[in-house]
Amino acid sequence: MRQLPKIIQGGMGVGVSNWRLAQAVSKLGQLGVVSGTALDSLFVRRLVDGDKGGHMRRGLDAFPFPEMAKRIWNEYFVPGGKPAEVPYPLLPVHQHKSPRKLIELCMVSNFVEVFLAKEGHKNPVGINFLEKVQMPHLASIYGAMLAGVGYVLMGAGIPMHIPGVLDAFVGNHAAEYKLSVAGATEGLNAQMHLEPAEYAEGPLPALQRPKFLAIISSNTLATNLLRRANGRVDGFVIEGPTAGGHNAPPRGKLQLSASGEPVYGERDRVNLEEMRKTGVPFWLAGGYGSAQGLQAALDAGAAGVQVGTVFAFSEESGLREDLKTELLAQARAGTGQVYTDRLASPTGFPFKVALLAGSTSQLPIYQERKRVCDLGYLREAYETTEGKIGYRCSAEPVENYVAKGGKQEETVGRKCLCNSLLANVGHAQRRKDGSAEPALVTIGDDLNTVAGFLAPGHTSYTAAEVVERLLGRNAVVSHDEKTLLAVTA
Ligand SMILES: Cc1cc2nc3c(=O)[nH]c(=O)nc-3n(C[C@H](O)[C@H](O)[C@H](O)COP(=O)(O)O)c2cc1C
Repeated sequence: MRQLPKIIQGGMGVGVSNWRLAQAVSKLGQLGVVSGTALDSLFVRRLVDGDKGGHMRRGLDAFPFPEMAKRIWNEYFVPGGKPAEVPYPLLPVHQHKSPRKLIELCMVSNFVEVFLAKEGHKNPVGINFLEKVQMPHLASIYGAMLAGVGYVLMGAGIPMHIPGVLDAFVGNHAAEYKLSVAGATEGLNAQMHLEPAEYAEGPLPALQRPKFLAIISSNTLATNLLRRANGRVDGFVIEGPTAGGHNAPPRGKLQLSASGEPVYGERDRVNLEEMRKTGVPFWLAGGYGSAQGLQAALDAGAAGVQVGTVFAFSEESGLREDLKTELLAQARAGTGQVYTDRLASPTGFPFKVALLAGSTSQLPIYQERKRVCDLGYLREAYETTEGKIGYRCSAEPVENYVAKGGKQEETVGRKCLCNSLLANVGHAQRRKDGSAEPALVTIGDDLNTVAGFLAPGHTSYTAAEVVERLLGRNAVVSHDEKTLLAVTA
C-alpha cells in the first residue's frame, strides 16, 4: 500500500493550483492537488488565448471520447490567441439540468487538468472542489476519474453525498447529487443526474475509486460524516481560520473586531483527541507551511499538513506574475496585510483577501465595479413562486437579486468572486467600456512568512524548494527547525 503523503498542496481555485503546480508536488511523492473550480471556463479561456505550449491540446488528444474533444477544440481554439481587447466568449451558466455542451466541457476540462498533472510520474494527484459549487459536481468528478485522479478533496460545505458519487462512477453507473434549493417545498425534484453511458463513444473505461478527503473545521462534523456519509470517507483536512480562501464562520454569536473581521475563539478549536479517536487519517491546515508546522502536526497525531499560501507564490502556481511580485515585495518588507472579509463571498462564508496597492480593508477599488453576473458558479438555487428552480447570486445587480426574492441586505459588500478569481490567473474578462475585471487575491494570514522561502538574492522560489523546506531537508533551516529535526531523528 502506498504511504500517505505528509504534505498536501492545498487546492487553490480558480487555477492557482493548476496542473503545473500539482505535477511538481506529486513528482516529489507528496500530494499535488489541482483546483477543479470553474475549470470549464478556465479551459475555454486557455484555448481562446491560443493554448500556449499546446498543453490543452495534448490533454484533449488523450481524452477517451475523441469526438467530444474535437467538438470543444473546434469551437474554442483561437490560433495565436484572441486580441487582448476582445472579450472571452461566455458559456451557458450551470443549472440543475445543464446543457450537454457544458457537461462535456466540465468532463473534458477536469480530465485534462488531472491528466497533465499526472504526466511524467506515477504518483497520485488530487482534485479539489467546493461543495457549495454543486451544479458542475457530477460531470467534473467523472472527468477527473476518467484521468485517474487519486484523491478528491472537498470543503466549503458538507460533502455528505460525494462518496456515493465516487462509488457509482467507479462502476460506470449513473450517479445522483441533490442540489440544495433555498425554500424548497416537498415534492420539488432537485436531484441532478449523470449517466456516463450517455457520453461514452465506445466501451466505458475501467476506473479506480479515488480516496475522499473532506475539508472541515470541527470534529463533530468529522464524526457526522463518518456516520452518515453515503460511502467511505478516507480522511479529513482540518482547516483553521488563518487559512487562505474561504473560512468556516466562527461558532456561536458573530463578534467582529475593530476592523470588522470575524473573531474566532476557543469554540473554534478542533478537538484533536476526538480526531485521533476516529482512527481515520487527518491533515492540519492553516498556518502549517513550515518544517515546524509539519512537525507539530505529526506530533499531534496528524498524517501531515495541507499547505496553500506558500505554494500560491511558487513559480509553478497560476497566480498572475504581477500579483505574485507585488505581494512577495510586501511579504519581504513585512507589510503584507490580509483581511478576513465576512461579506465578500456570495457563499456567505468569510473570505480572506490580500490588500493590494490602492485598496484598504474596505476594498474601494472593487466597489467601483459595475455589477454583472455572467459566470454564475456561486448562484444559489431557490424555489420560484411557480414551484420551479430559479437562480440568484447576492453579487449580481441588486435589483435582479431582489426581484428573485433575495434580501437587499444580503447584497451589501458582496464581490464577484467568479470574475475576479479568473482575473487573478491572467484571464480577466474585458468589458464593453474597455475595462478588465479586477483581481481580488485570496491568501492566508501567513502572507509575510513566505518571504522566508526566498533564497538570498532571489525573487522567486519553486514548489520543490517548498517541499524540501517543509520536509526539513534544506540547509538553511532555522534554529528551531534544527532542534525539532534532532528530536525526531
Ligand atoms: C489562493 C488560495 C486559494 C484557495 N482556494 C481554495 C479552494 O478553491 N478550495 C479549498 O478547499 N481551499 C482553498 N484554499 C485553501 C487551501 O487549500 C489550504 O487549505 C489553505 O491555504 C491552508 O492554509 P495556509 O494558506 O495557511 O497554508 C485556498 C487557499 C489559497 C491561498
